[in-house]
Amino acid sequence: MSDGATGAAVRLRDVAVRYPEADRDAVGGVDLDVPAGAFVVLLGPSGCGKSTLLRTINRLVLPYRGAIEVGGSDVTESDPETLRRGIGYVIQAVGLFPHLSVAKNIAVVPQLLRWPADAIAARVDELLELVRLDPARYRERLPRELSGGEQQRVGVARALAARPRVLLMDEPFGAVDAIVRTSLQDETLRIHRVLGTTILFVTHDVDEALRLADRIVVMKEGRIEQDGTPLRVLAKPATPYVEALLDAKDAVRRLSLLHARDALRPANGADTAGAPLGAQAYRVEAGATLRTVLSELLEHADAVDVVEDGRRIGTLSFADVRAALLASER
Ligand SMILES: Nc1ncnc2c1ncn2[C@@H]1O[C@H](COP(=O)(O)OP(=O)(O)OP(=O)(O)O)[C@@H](O)[C@H]1O
Ligand SMILES: [Mg+2]
Repeated sequence: MSDGATGAAVRLRDVAVRYPEADRDAVGGVDLDVPAGAFVVLLGPSGCGKSTLLRTINRLVLPYRGAIEVGGSDVTESDPETLRRGIGYVIQAVGLFPHLSVAKNIAVVPQLLRWPADAIAARVDELLELVRLDPARYRERLPRELSGGEQQRVGVARALAARPRVLLMDEPFGAVDAIVRTSLQDETLRIHRVLGTTILFVTHDVDEALRLADRIVVMKEGRIEQDGTPLRVLAKPATPYVEALLDAKDAVRRLSLLHARDALRPANGADTAGAPLGAQAYRVEAGATLRTVLSELLEHADAVDVVEDGRRIGTLSFADVRAALLASER
């Protein structure tokens, strides 16, 4: 799909929020740099300030201190309505308009922006396809004629309608069952790949964070406790709190039970399979545990060669280790 929308960077500096009557900050001075096109997950227990932090970005919540930039512009200097049209927002209670069809729900923002009718119609169909709902079957339905998972897909389509450069998702799949949730997660990853939109995603579900994130931001009582790649946060939790929250000991224990040969991506093609070893690449033995592989990856490289009897039989990257870890839970 030729969307032309690429993500915008989001930058928070010393952002602090206190609700009226509260005796402490809901968000207490947060610095966060989200590069354009990243998929960042905010993870933490109920009440730690995830939603509040997210909502400062589209100005649904105003900080009393600090600065927030989206695509290099200070959000406090944009008109809130204009800002919100450029930032998609998906929440658990989808909030579809009950008396409007699926198509009209998706078209809300393009209509406000006075897109021509044929452009809106084309965009609606394109988005329905993107979220895997057949336009012909779903366009004219009312929200109450959809399952929870389908409503959530329409919510995502609506949030993407005006080609936002940033998508904020606040526990969007909290209310759907585990199977639908997994497929919505896969679709979110695919949409992220296709559109390149910057995504900030809130959850308190560790598995969801591990599946989705390029980077996990762990929050505690309004502050950032750790900010890193999923595997780094698992393998090197910054504090006992992070370790406990991620059940990191258990994950690392599981990594000790899995081996490089079970997770590798086989070398393919006559030129590389079983090829003599190159001099520079980092390598691990096929029988090494994924825990060892992970430390090699964290210290040295984005990918390592897997060798057996002195021949290279495949490679392993962070994504492969993560996939093996997640698969080991089922
Ligand atoms: N509108 C509000 N008015 C007053 N206090 C609020 C308001 N919204 C949230 N709070 C308080 O601010 C703190 C952070 O709340 P927030 O909703 O950001 O947490 P959260 O991490 O999103 O939690 P959850 O996982 O339960 O959604 C909590 O102590 C909460 O009680
Ligand atoms: Mg919340």
